[in-house]
This record gives sequence, structure tokens and C-alpha cells, in this order.
Amino acid sequence: MTTSTSTSALFIAFFGATGGCTNACLVHTLNAGFHATALARTPSKLTDMLLAQGLSQSLIDTQLTIVKGDIADIQAIKNVLTNNSATTETPKLASQIISGIGGTPQMRMSLSKPMTIDNPEICATATKNIVQSLQEIYASHPSTAQNRPSITVISTTGVSDVREDVPFGFRTFYHVVLADPHKDKKVMENLVIENASLTGVFRGAVVIRPSLLKGDQNVKSGKGWQKVKVGVEDKPAVGYTIHRADVGQWICEQIVKTGGESHFGQKVTLTC
Ligand SMILES: *[C@@H]1O[C@H](CO)[C@@H](O)[C@H](O)[C@H]1NC(C)=O
Ligand SMILES: *[C@@H]1O[C@H](CO)[C@@H](O)[C@H](O)[C@H]1NC(C)=O
Repeated sequence: MTTSTSTSALFIAFFGATGGCTNACLVHTLNAGFHATALARTPSKLTDMLLAQGLSQSLIDTQLTIVKGDIADIQAIKNVLTNNSATTETPKLASQIISGIGGTPQMRMSLSKPMTIDNPEICATATKNIVQSLQEIYASHPSTAQNRPSITVISTTGVSDVREDVPFGFRTFYHVVLADPHKDKKVMENLVIENASLTGVFRGAVVIRPSLLKGDQNVKSGKGWQKVKVGVEDKPAVGYTIHRADVGQWICEQIVKTGGESHFGQKVTLTC
């Protein structure tokens, strides 16, 4: 572990951290010495996942604050965004937000139950609640607006209006079977992009569009982020699948560690 003063002063807020891509990203982020906060309905589930990935309990205790709650709970979201300092005189905001909520509708597919999604608008709702929480924090503590966080959300390929980014053999599956979850992701994408460029709620926004996700969060199981093919909306990287662990590692290397500025406003396609 490398801890430097520059990384320990900052923290990264995670939503959906028990999901595969986001959990892998959190593991890499903590291993790189960053501090983080995370929202979890069942904190012990998240802790167990991190221990299973080889993090020590003391590293988790030192670098991570888990807030119990769900994405409908504005106060819990504010606590994640401020490392529990929302109600103090000088709340401290996260420098970046990583959200993988509703990130993997494909995972819920099976032959007997082709599409089961508990909440078909989960991505849009989560994003709106994050926006509202930030607006309330800025309103009650105007000085916090000088350090607005950026946001990175995990979306999907198959939602572009600009270029087809799904390989031919997958198009029916993507555009017919996954039509509804994709509508939700599209709304989420527009909310974060516009709330960065138009309203300035976010310092910047990055949309990640991985191809069909495979594997799990285990950071030892991917091919490594250097093998990932990267594109942008009008020049997408078209491919069949990508490992969740590689998506998470790519986000840590290219967004968390760098600040992500060079990708602000982009819809980044990732495939292997
Ligand atoms: C987050 O809050 C905890 C105490 O609740 C503190 O130990 C930790 O240093 C804080 N992290 C950051 C980055 O401020
Ligand atoms: C910003 O996000 C809010 C959701 O809380 C949404 O209602 C609003 O339309 C967004 N603003 C823009 C300019 O898209």
C-alpha cells in the first residue's frame, strides 16, 4: 500500500460497491492508498467482499467509511458524499463519485426468468437522488460548491444514438431484450452529462459503456486494464465481452488515480 498526503486528504464516494465492476474498482482504489466512502444496505456484506479480495481489516478500518442505507435515503447519500460530515459546520465533499448502481442488468438474465429487475428506473432514481443531495449540501453550505465532485457512472453499450457499438451477433439481444434497462441507463447518462455541463452540480461527468459483462469482482481474475480496448461515442471500441474486474481496474487507473479530467463529458466504451 502506498499512502501519500495527496491521496489521504481526498476521498472517493462509491455507490453500488457490492456490484462486480464497482467492487473491483473499490479494491484497487483502497490498495492504491486512497480513502473512500461507500453506501451499503448491508455493510457486513461489503466488508466480507473486501476481506475476500485480500484487503486487511485494518486497511478497511483506516481507509473506508461504510454508510448503512440505500439509494432512496437522501441523508444516507449525503453522509456518503461528505464522509459523515454533512451536518457539521464545514462539510467535506468527496472529490469523485463512482456509481455502479443498477450496473448489471445482464446478470439477471436466465432462461426461465429472462428479465427480472426489481426497480426498472434504479439508475435514473439513484442519479436524481445524488444530484438532489449535492444541491442540498451546496445550498446549506455554499463554500462546498467550490469543491464539487466529478461523477463516473457505469452504463452499457447499445444505448448510443450516434454509432452502433454492439457487435452484429448481439444486436437483437441488446436492442430488444434489454430495451427497458437501457432506457433507464440512457436517462442516467443524460442526467449526469447535463448536470455537469449545464447546471454544474458535478465538476465533470464520465459515462462508462462496457460491452457484455462477464466474470465477477475478483481482482485477480481479469486480463488486466492494459488489455482493455477503449473508444469514445463517435469512435467506439466494438467487441463482445469484458471482464467486470477489468472494468473496475480501468476506472481506478484512468479516472480515480488521474482525476479523470481528460475523459470529462465522454461516453467511454470498454471491451476486450
Ligand atoms: C472520514 O471519517 C473518518 C471518521 O469518521 C476519519 O477517520 C477519516 O479520516 C475521514 N476520511 C477523510 C478522507 O477525511
Ligand atoms: C439535473 O438533474 C436533475 C435530477 O435531480 C434533473 O431533474 C435535471 O433535469 C437535470 N438538469 C439538467 C440540465 O439536465
